[in-house]
Amino acid sequence: MLSRSVLRSLTHSSRLFSTSAARQQKVAVLGAGGGIGQPLSLLLKLDPYVTSLSLYDIRGAPGVAADVSHIDTASEVTGYPADKLDEALEGVKVVVIPAGVPRKPGMTRDDLFNTNASIVRDLAAAIGRVSPEAHILVISNPVNSTVPIVSAVLEKAGVYDPRRVFGVTTLDVVRAARFLSQITGSNPQDTVVPVVGGHSGATIVPLLSQTEQGKSLTGEAYEKLIHRIQFGGDEVVKAKDGAGSATLSMAYAGARFTNALLRGLAGEKGIVTPTFVKSPLFADKGIDFFSSPIELGPNGVEKVHPLGPLSPSEEKLLAACLPDLKKNIEKGKAFVAQS
Ligand SMILES: NC(=O)c1ccc[n+]([C@@H]2O[C@H](COP(=O)([O-])OP(=O)(O)OC[C@H]3O[C@@H](n4cnc5c(N)ncnc54)[C@H](O)[C@@H]3O)[C@@H](O)[C@H]2O)c1
Repeated sequence: MLSRSVLRSLTHSSRLFSTSAARQQKVAVLGAGGGIGQPLSLLLKLDPYVTSLSLYDIRGAPGVAADVSHIDTASEVTGYPADKLDEALEGVKVVVIPAGVPRKPGMTRDDLFNTNASIVRDLAAAIGRVSPEAHILVISNPVNSTVPIVSAVLEKAGVYDPRRVFGVTTLDVVRAARFLSQITGSNPQDTVVPVVGGHSGATIVPLLSQTEQGKSLTGEAYEKLIHRIQFGGDEVVKAKDGAGSATLSMAYAGARFTNALLRGLAGEKGIVTPTFVKSPLFADKGIDFFSSPIELGPNGVEKVHPLGPLSPSEEKLLAACLPDLKKNIEKGKAFVAQS
């Protein structure tokens, strides 16, 4: 079971923007012209921890920047066209990456690998060259593979610090809170579900036994909720009918995770949230990336929390997660090794 203080900070980070101190930072969005990139840029313009926003895309970033820059918050916004990636990365502390293609109905996240792997690899190489100390928040799918790709590219370049590379799994946490609260009638803001493992289908492992509201769910209600959390993204893909996957809820989740990291970087204590990082938890099984509640601090990852006690159903979910996750991670590493 997570400690009371960890649970409190998970709850705390469930609000979009919390502020206290204000050491502010330059943040870049790569893929800022896209379905996620545009609302994410908007939300980051509202974040008081962001002093400067650097928006890059192969299409449309200067337009998004001009638009967002009129919002009456103090941060500066600059848009960069396709050939100005290096300029966009100058001096950035945090880089958020939603660049790449989204799913269409019937596709898994792994089906995106062929296109997105090379996009993410090339962006990571540029970050390694221009802003090697930046914290990198990977949204582009398949996250289970793109995070190992970014890590391997930085490692090749000799600038890898595992404390600074994150897969954004916050949308799974957001969905879990929302879906569980719809069943129990609780306030989603106070319904905090640790979601661990990876970010696709069976690799998504919600730990309902560790929540006040979810611990007594059993049988069909439990099974249905787990399935909905694991495959909630499919609801959006289906409803958008070929026009893409989650963008608005993802932008919210991405902005919330970015704010949590910025608060950690600014020295705020007790910021804990699940994210997919280099992790010792299952490294002995050859799975060296994993999402579990992570404490964020001035250097990025401060502490990898263990999973805590699992119910028998959660042990089964974890057993189903690990082999898939291992394959996804190995695919990402192999891609960079062959590049
Ligand atoms: N982590 C998550 O929970 C989560 C949730 C939803 C979607 N996603 C993923 O996020 C990614 C983006 O989704 P979207 O709906 O915004 O897609 P989108 O097609 O609307 O936008 C993607 C943007 O990336 C840009 N792009 C492509 N190649 C680029 C490059 N080399 N450099 C910079 N920009 C580039 C495109 O021009 C486009 O503007 C997809 O891979 C999707 O699967 C992740």
